[in-house]
Amino acid sequence: MSEITFDGRVAIITGAGAGLGRTYALELGQRGAKVVVNDLGGARDGTGAGHAAADQVVDEIKKAGGEAVPNYDSVSTMEGGENIVRTAVESFGRVDIVINNAGILRDKSIMKMTEEEWDLVQDVHLKGTFSVTKAALPIMRENSYGRVVFTSSGSGIYGNFGQANYAAAKTGMVGLMNVLKLEGAKYNIMVNTIAPSAASRMTEDVLPPELLEKLRPEFITPLVIYLCSEDCKDSGMIFNCIMGWYSRVAFMSTDGVIIGDGSRDISAEEIKEHWGKITGLENPKYLNNVNESFGYLSPLLPK
Ligand code: NAI
Repeated sequence: MSEITFDGRVAIITGAGAGLGRTYALELGQRGAKVVVNDLGGARDGTGAGHAAADQVVDEIKKAGGEAVPNYDSVSTMEGGENIVRTAVESFGRVDIVINNAGILRDKSIMKMTEEEWDLVQDVHLKGTFSVTKAALPIMRENSYGRVVFTSSGSGIYGNFGQANYAAAKTGMVGLMNVLKLEGAKYNIMVNTIAPSAASRMTEDVLPPELLEKLRPEFITPLVIYLCSEDCKDSGMIFNCIMGWYSRVAFMSTDGVIIGDGSRDISAEEIKEHWGKITGLENPKYLNNVNESFGYLSPLLPK
């Protein structure tokens, strides 16, 4: 099997001063990429800031013989996104890879959640993913090359008690990915999303220690490295990744049911009558864009 290398490639990894992002930065550095290690250096709840986290990872990459520069901007403003990308261009001349990984937590039940807790988490995860990606896109388009990774979460994809702000932001970025998949395709810009589970300061007190011991962040790294590589030609996919389990997750549609003839009125009672067919998950199909959903309507459309 041919080795995956990143010689000549420039990668931005947000929130790379610790946890999962650090492992991506080290591995990309080892495999020849020039790396921008972005990290605000704050606490898990988004408070505070500092240079130590990003600096330390840059040192580690350099000690291992790689090339890296730090960036300390927050992803959560458009200016921050532009500065992060500028750091890559000024240091290394281009951007090929963006791994949107920075994240914070402000967990509360919906009834107790404040506007500030909602906004802060949207700003880091969802707007932060937009701000850095948007700033990198013109360069990727110019080079007809880009590999982008988003970091979602099972929390949003499946639901997790007490994480409404986080879950909404993490699933919002799936919508962003679905559009970037279409808009980036002709420029060879691929985007995929991971939903990881791993031991880090984010999970250190929410999962039992015996499980945490097994959830090494390094189990997530190989999937992300592959998604960032030239070899990966798939775009718009979501992946579960935990320990050694990697699987695709997708929004799918079933055939459902067609009621009526496309012109007569349809009653709520008919919906009730066909509820089993509407909600059943038999024969699911993946739709690549919203127009494909109109394919189901062919019996109702003029021949
Ligand atoms: P972590 O807390 O170790 O790393 C997150 C990093 O992001 C920190 O170093 C932090 O300083 C940085 N950061 C926070 N806000 C920032 C901002 N505004 N600008 C730039 N950097 C900022 O957490 P972990 O576990 O490595 O998380 C990485 C990503 O994976 C996050 O997006 C998280 O939501 C996601 N994730 C992690 C899971 C896990 O099991 N560890 C589960 C699902 C998703």
